[in-house]
Amino acid sequence: MENLLTVDRLTKAFEIHHLGHIIPAFATLSFSVAPGEFLLLSGPNGVGKSTLLRTLYRTYRPVSGHVWYTLPRGQGRIDLARAADIDIALLRRREIGFVTQFLTARPRVSAEDVVAEPLLQAGTPLQEAREEARHWLETFGVKRDLWAAYPMTFSGGEQQKVNLARALIRPQRLVLLDEPTASLDAQARGALVARLADLKAGGVAMIGVFHHPGDVETLVDREIRLQPMEMANVA
Ligand SMILES: Nc1ncnc2c1ncn2[C@@H]1O[C@H](COP(=O)(O)OP(=O)(O)O)[C@@H](O)[C@H]1O
Ligand SMILES: [Mg+2]
Repeated sequence: MENLLTVDRLTKAFEIHHLGHIIPAFATLSFSVAPGEFLLLSGPNGVGKSTLLRTLYRTYRPVSGHVWYTLPRGQGRIDLARAADIDIALLRRREIGFVTQFLTARPRVSAEDVVAEPLLQAGTPLQEAREEARHWLETFGVKRDLWAAYPMTFSGGEQQKVNLARALIRPQRLVLLDEPTASLDAQARGALVARLADLKAGGVAMIGVFHHPGDVETLVDREIRLQPMEMANVA
């Protein structure tokens, strides 16, 4: 099967101007992901796992290297490291998801509408989108009384559940996960793993860092272990 993503000699470092040195994150990293594959990203704290996911999502631009992403329907491939911002924005809306443990809640939007929004953007009628949203809120264990309430006032764990429901309601082609379960209860973690298994079976590719890697053991096809690098002085 053709790869969905091919990472080629990707290098990222942070230049800390006022200290006159460079913090290397990773260098000449190459790997690929096919549809339906699940890659576990591992390594010690501060090794660059979040930085790698953010570089793939183009929150950060790499120093060098390529991130080839295969477009659907034979439209060829695009280098996410160099693509125009407008193309990145479209891909984020339709094809590439990023799941963290944090919800960006907005004032006066109910939990069910926060979760339904990605479906509404994709053209699903309002009632159907809300029903689907309630299904996922229930699945992730958000109490029924909270569905019409504003997530801004929720506990951290409740916000995480709303966040997962929203992030995974609409199947995408590639999902990047950065410790989405860090402080979730066992029931919600179980629901998440079940959802990821379904997405994987449906051909969604995933790259993720997990606080409890044992949770996703049965899903993992390959592991990428990042190694610590030395700090370099700017010449
Ligand atoms: N925006 C940034 N500016 C400067 N340094 C950063 C930035 N983001 C991350 N770093 C540094 O890059 C390294 C890797 O961080 P990170 O990717 O968050 O690690 P991990 O997710 O593996 O714990 C750390 O040394 C961190 O301090
Ligand atoms: Mg991290």
